[in-house]
Amino acid sequence: MPKPRPFRIAHLSDLHLTASDRAARSETRLFGRLRGMNAAFRKIVRTPAIQRADLIVFTGDIADRGEIDAWKVFWNALAEAGLSHRALVVPGNHDVCCLGVRAPWNADARADWAKAAAGLRLGNQPTKLPWARSPDPRVAVFGLNSNNLGNFSAADNALGRIGYYQLQDLANKLHVHRDVPVKIVLLHHSPNIPEDRTAAQRGQRPTGPLGRATHQIPRDQRRALRLLCITHRVRLVLHGHMHVAEDRRVAGVHTVGARATTEPDAGKYYFSTFVVLGEGHRVWRKPCAVRV
Ligand SMILES: [Fe+2]
Repeated sequence: MPKPRPFRIAHLSDLHLTASDRAARSETRLFGRLRGMNAAFRKIVRTPAIQRADLIVFTGDIADRGEIDAWKVFWNALAEAGLSHRALVVPGNHDVCCLGVRAPWNADARADWAKAAAGLRLGNQPTKLPWARSPDPRVAVFGLNSNNLGNFSAADNALGRIGYYQLQDLANKLHVHRDVPVKIVLLHHSPNIPEDRTAAQRGQRPTGPLGRATHQIPRDQRRALRLLCITHRVRLVLHGHMHVAEDRRVAGVHTVGARATTEPDAGKYYFSTFVVLGEGHRVWRKPCAVRV
């Protein structure tokens, strides 16, 4: 019998694309704001590691300020690289939330969502979350919206939130796909921001109590998500948001966080690829660093 063909997945995140190519990323940095995300992304998607992928997943923060023109940059880059039909996208807080301050009466979760939905729709992505897609008989991907829609200020724009009904719907979708061997959950926020002591053990920079309080998914929701992942044998949970490469097992669940793909480090751009291999459908991760 012929060996099953490997199935390759690339995981990119936190592109923070801007409406104009020269605009800076909204996030402040020590030595000035980052620019050049659009140009970097156009080149990254042409690298062999991405071109070879059967599926490319994006875990949010596509548009730095949620603008539709930044989404157009994203979809045009994918189209020009011949990848539009291989992409699956979940939104991040920069795609939907208010990054500044607004009065409570101006906070509108529906309007926030409409912004991201318009960007997703440009690429024919599902806009009702959670969703499930099976791009190969061996693989089922589940997308979650983990954003705090309808926030008032910068203090709560980065908070995670999944919500009971989304988890319930995810449970149903996982059950429907129970016979698919490789189940992958995508969300923007980290379902496991480690305590400072654990971060130190992992050789990671500590997030600190304030960072955890302003970026975390509430404990009951992340625990419920973890239980679903354990009982349904989810093989991978992929997320972004923290802009840190993390690869850990949380109660046995392989959980991988991505760096901001368009943020260079020593002239290289970072992302992960995964390959589903062999009869046992094992999943192997390969960290990638490319010069563009
Ligand atoms: Fe981000």
